[in-house]
Amino acid sequence: MQVLGIETSCDETAVAVYDSKNGIISHCLYSQIDLHNQYGGVVPELASREHILKVLPLINRTLTDGNTSFDLLDAIAYTSGPGLMGSLLVGSAIGRSLAYSLNLPAIGVHHMEAHLLAPLLEKNPPKYPFLALLVSGGHTLLVEVAAPSNFKILGESVDDAAGEAFDKTAKVLGLAYPGGPKLSQLAEKGTLGRFTFPRPMTDRPGLDFSFSGLKTSALNTINSENLDEQIKADIACAFVDAVVDTLTIKCQRAIEETKINQLVVAGGVSANKQLQHALVSMLKKENGEVFFPRNEYCTDNGAMVAYAGYLRIKKGHSEPLSFHAKPRWSIDNI
Ligand code: KG4
Ligand code: ZN
Repeated sequence: MQVLGIETSCDETAVAVYDSKNGIISHCLYSQIDLHNQYGGVVPELASREHILKVLPLINRTLTDGNTSFDLLDAIAYTSGPGLMGSLLVGSAIGRSLAYSLNLPAIGVHHMEAHLLAPLLEKNPPKYPFLALLVSGGHTLLVEVAAPSNFKILGESVDDAAGEAFDKTAKVLGLAYPGGPKLSQLAEKGTLGRFTFPRPMTDRPGLDFSFSGLKTSALNTINSENLDEQIKADIACAFVDAVVDTLTIKCQRAIEETKINQLVVAGGVSANKQLQHALVSMLKKENGEVFFPRNEYCTDNGAMVAYAGYLRIKKGHSEPLSFHAKPRWSIDNI
């Protein structure tokens, strides 16, 4: 069986084909970073227009690269939420219409579920039940996954998402959008301990997160220092350390509370090397195992959407001809 996956929830147009025998046989991505970089962040209207221009050529290229064709497809999956309304509508309308014209089933996929499933595309995937830390530009979630598609939210951010805090702090340090990866690179040149930022909500019970105070704390330090490259790197280092430490403390707490010691980490921030190291060593202490997607499947991609669609089709899931893009959609309400 072959499933075409289309991802257009934010600022990446991405397409892939999942083949039930051979796994992902091709995946292509067009990043809009250069377009939005001029404005310091994603401009939703421009994002949807760009998706409209890029998605069909990208679908053709993905099919050609995978040595396959529309005739060989068995289903079409597209991200139907959460994300930017205009962007979601592009992928949903194209996915649904293509499926109609080819007489194939179409499946609207939850973007965060797709992220969560990305590590399962690797060799040695986790077994159910497992915990998942989902850290992207729009969401920070700790989820218990008892069985396929059985999600219980254990904790989530009450304000900024982890990726959002990275991007906003990077912006005030003068780094280009999206600042997360650049801030992490800068942090590697910093001296740990020169500045210290809070680990929000770690001194009280519970598994929720809050990153807005930490971001403000970094902002106040940036505004009060006479910045040079080394001080910027030292601030970045303290910021990354605080985010990583906070995420690690909450994951460890979730492991101790649920007695589940397999942890899946996904979403853009899962590409962060400092976070990967911290979680690997924490899981070692807990006698457990941590699972990351390969680097290109950490951030938005079509592979995770094709795979999530495949799993639903395999379970006999089908949807009517109408489609609904859902900018807000909780993972425990799929
Ligand atoms: O999952 P994703 O590609 O898109 C959303 O669904 O939001 O996540 C994008 C987020 C951005 O905030 C970006 O700065 C962050 O992930 N990110 C990183 C790294 N790579 C991407 N944050 C920290 N370190 C990284 N290496
Ligand atoms: Zn994402």
